[in-house]
Amino acid sequence: MAFNNMEEFITNLPKAELHIHIEGTLSSEMILKIVTRNKIDFPYKSVKEINKALAMRIPGLKGFLDHHYLVVSIIQTQADFYEITYELLRKCKENNIVYIEIFFDPQFHTTREIPFETVINGIHQGRLDGSGTFGVEANLIMCINRERSVESAFEMLAQARPHRDKIIGIGLDSYEEKNPPRKFAEVYLRAQEDGYRFTAHCDVDQVNSVEHIWECLDILKVDRIDHGINSIEDPKLMKELKRRNICMTTCPIWRSTDPEPQDIRRIKNIYEFGLLVTLNTDDPAEFDSGYLTNLLMEVQEKSDYSKFDIVHFMKNAFEGSWLSRSAKDDYIKSLLDYAAVHGVNMA
Ligand code: ADE
Ligand code: ZN
Repeated sequence: MAFNNMEEFITNLPKAELHIHIEGTLSSEMILKIVTRNKIDFPYKSVKEINKALAMRIPGLKGFLDHHYLVVSIIQTQADFYEITYELLRKCKENNIVYIEIFFDPQFHTTREIPFETVINGIHQGRLDGSGTFGVEANLIMCINRERSVESAFEMLAQARPHRDKIIGIGLDSYEEKNPPRKFAEVYLRAQEDGYRFTAHCDVDQVNSVEHIWECLDILKVDRIDHGINSIEDPKLMKELKRRNICMTTCPIWRSTDPEPQDIRRIKNIYEFGLLVTLNTDDPAEFDSGYLTNLLMEVQEKSDYSKFDIVHFMKNAFEGSWLSRSAKDDYIKSLLDYAAVHGVNMA
């Protein structure tokens, strides 16, 4: 029963996740609940219709985001933000995720006249209560929507200043085409004064993906890259990512039409090159891959990873997190203890 043994090993493995958008965790049931509560005229009226629309969306980043934002627009109140965050931490517990860093997109909400306070207070309280109930540690990463103006990003930084203690870092997401990282050079520079950690999305197979990754390193001064797998095309970039110990948060998600998790060959090459690469779910309610246990099981099988490899990926996630050195060491010790009990020696 080798397969079952691996299934049990992955299920019970203590996990960390570094790339997940809170707005991408709305299940069909949660969508209907919020739509009803907020009396919204939403185009899809049942779980079946919601799932059909999800399956029919146009492939690629733009198609994904167009549909994503249609769904996200149902979130309106502090109770909505609270509930989705609390429910995410329940999912973490189910998946044995002990530590998570969660993206949120304030500009999408504030430009719909929802106060920044509504967003941050709902998410923050959901995180605190969820942590208390489910024993999961969580930190928040505030993303800049890259298609919006630099002024709008500065405004968000100012709105976040009274809440600085609730937010660990800054990210960059949304529509990448024609919105290179360098557009936000001044914003990241200013955010440095506020003491944030930095990451940025360089989505897969975008126009100028490799150039964007270089800009993240040299201009934005990130210590993580979200996705970033096109780095495999540039040997000099690969060496530089290794030299700087940059963490890559890849997302081998899949849709029902995909024969296997996306990009697993390139991810394996990056892993074998020795970069600090991690496996993540991105928007678990919007892909068939779902949450982390399910994703890891499929990736392990399709990439033929050993238990050692799976533990290594998870060690990378704790290592690449924005926890303190001592907190990382504690989590890694628990992980390696778990591995040792299951016959995996990482020394
Ligand atoms: N927002 C939610 N998921 C995203 C992704 N994968 N890339 C860019 N923006 C996003
Ligand atoms: Zn993402």
